[in-house]
Amino acid sequence: MIKDTIYTKIKYFALVKSEIKRFFRQLRRENSFIKTTGDSLFIYEQYDNSEQLLYESGRRTMSYKGIYRKMTDKEARRLYITHVFEYVDRLLKGDGAKRVNILEVGCGNCINIVKLIEKYGDEISVTGIDISPERINVARKHYGAVLETADLKVGSITERLPFDDGQFDIVFSMHCLEQISYEVKSAIKEMYRLTGIYTVLIEPVFENGNFLQKLYLINSDHCRVILKTITELEYPVIENRVLDIQSNPRNQSSLIALKK
Ligand SMILES: C[S@@+](CC[C@H](N)C(=O)[O-])C[C@H]1O[C@@H](n2cnc3c(N)ncnc32)[C@H](O)[C@@H]1O
Repeated sequence: MIKDTIYTKIKYFALVKSEIKRFFRQLRRENSFIKTTGDSLFIYEQYDNSEQLLYESGRRTMSYKGIYRKMTDKEARRLYITHVFEYVDRLLKGDGAKRVNILEVGCGNCINIVKLIEKYGDEISVTGIDISPERINVARKHYGAVLETADLKVGSITERLPFDDGQFDIVFSMHCLEQISYEVKSAIKEMYRLTGIYTVLIEPVFENGNFLQKLYLINSDHCRVILKTITELEYPVIENRVLDIQSNPRNQSSLIALKK
């Protein structure tokens, strides 16, 4: 226990040091780094199926309940998506339960969608949208028949999508809004418009972060106004907490849930 605490502290200060250096390196550049949705699209269009392969056979060091330990990527992913499962279960176990209609925004590699299908089968119907056509192509090719029941579409959540108001019982995102630094208000409004019952955001939340995370979000120009935007829009937050599982100590994930 003491060993874990010392390791965590040493790692934390080493990462703070490297982020401070990065901050000053960026200050010295003429154009500081500003991340647009176009930059994000450009980056993700280059991706192959490495994330899916890593998911299938990779292992990495994760922080779980504050302690670093090695685990398989599969286990780590399960611990992340469990937080979305909690909301699916609330609906499946609630009064008048019916098939749950789910949308993932920024589904990318489609690992979350595969995990939802594996766990719930035809108790749910799943739709995924992503701004990158190539990411959807790569996922379709990699997963083949597994993704047949999912409706995958190319589109940007910053624009009005061809779905009805409240069409999905659950609309969720996992590290997608972080990519939308300057249009997050339109993205959150569109997610909420499409939500029937719950919006679940698994994203970095600036206000929940420690000094290291705040610096990282500034250096990477990831979105820092998710909670501020939700507060301005006066959407009802039913949960806001830092997750117990973390893959990147610089960029911790929080869960924010909204109820309609
Ligand atoms: C960090 S990846 C996360 C992928 C997946 N949700 C996961 O948990 O592994 C972010 C994804 O968001 C997508 N994205 C970025 N901006 C978007 C936008 N405006 N609308 C829809 N998807 C977007 C990217 O193409 C990318 O696939």
